[in-house]
Amino acid sequence: MQKYEKLEKIGEGTYGTVFKAKNRETLEIVALKRVRLDDEDEGVPSSALREICLLKELKHKNIVRLYDVLHSDKKLTLVFEHCDQDLKKYFDSLNGDIDPDVVKSFMFQLLRGLAFCHGHNVLHRDLKPQNLLINKPTMMQHKIVNGELKLADFGLARAFGIPVKCYSAEVVTLWYRPPDVLFGAKLYNTSIDMWSAGCIFAELANSGRPLFPGSDVEDQLKRIFKLLGTPTEDTWPGHNQLPDYKPFPVYHPTASIAQVVPKLGGKGRDLLQRLLNCNPNHRLSSEEAMAHSYFNDLPPAIRNL
Ligand SMILES: Nc1ncnc2c1ncn2[C@@H]1O[C@H](COP(=O)(O)OP(=O)(O)OP(=O)(O)O)[C@@H](O)[C@H]1O
Ligand SMILES: [Mg+2]
Repeated sequence: MQKYEKLEKIGEGTYGTVFKAKNRETLEIVALKRVRLDDEDEGVPSSALREICLLKELKHKNIVRLYDVLHSDKKLTLVFEHCDQDLKKYFDSLNGDIDPDVVKSFMFQLLRGLAFCHGHNVLHRDLKPQNLLINKPTMMQHKIVNGELKLADFGLARAFGIPVKCYSAEVVTLWYRPPDVLFGAKLYNTSIDMWSAGCIFAELANSGRPLFPGSDVEDQLKRIFKLLGTPTEDTWPGHNQLPDYKPFPVYHPTASIAQVVPKLGGKGRDLLQRLLNCNPNHRLSSEEAMAHSYFNDLPPAIRNL
């Protein structure tokens, strides 16, 4: 820890507190995440340590780098690459709408980060705007300059368990959870992150207005089914066998997706619809989503960012 000089506190999350810090030797700015565990006396479980150390190998431009894992006195501190701000704070700082090209760029980078992690059998399971870090985009002569997006906290849910309550006792948000998980599905696969990506896509397109801001599990599912229609045995075989299944009124998908994302064109709406499929087996994968025609006109500079 002597290697780092702690600067200000940046935030508080599910697993602990995040500080900005400076590497005393290299002067590099990093983010230190001090992980708190349920049972501090027991120390850090070896299974969690193994998982975390694997994440150090996950190196990609759309993933926040985990530089180091400091483990001493039964405490665990993760040293991450530092970014300007998270997507939630970016939304809050906006006055006006996000440029449609920035929406496309962010969405592509989100999918590319996901494709890399899923390709290495790592799931996120808790994707949300606070876990997407960005370096601020600026527009110059109708072109986007900067504006990188990186996924943070990959693999932490697996290492420490799916969060139920935050360290700060706040309830974890359900807004980005897919219906299968809300119904208690335990066999998680990559489709969980694809649903969250869909929710975030809609939120980007609406300049920060969340798509399904539910207050509890039932309200969350109701909001989803009102937009997309209540699943049936035809559209999603076996969903009524899930552990926490409860019947819902039969909603028909009346309000079209166009009404909830008015600024998104036809291709964008088609991509959104294919991500927001209640049946996890029918959701697009990250590779499929990146190949969608919505991205046909993505500038090469962003494709190679
Ligand atoms: N590497 C980083 N660079 C810059 N800011 C960061 C970094 N990591 C985290 N932060 C900031 O600190 C906040 C808290 O981070 P943390 O990951 O602990 O909580 P969270 O993302 O809100 O929730 P969760 O714990 O579920 O991921 C983030 O929302 C973000 O604003
Ligand atoms: Mg986080």
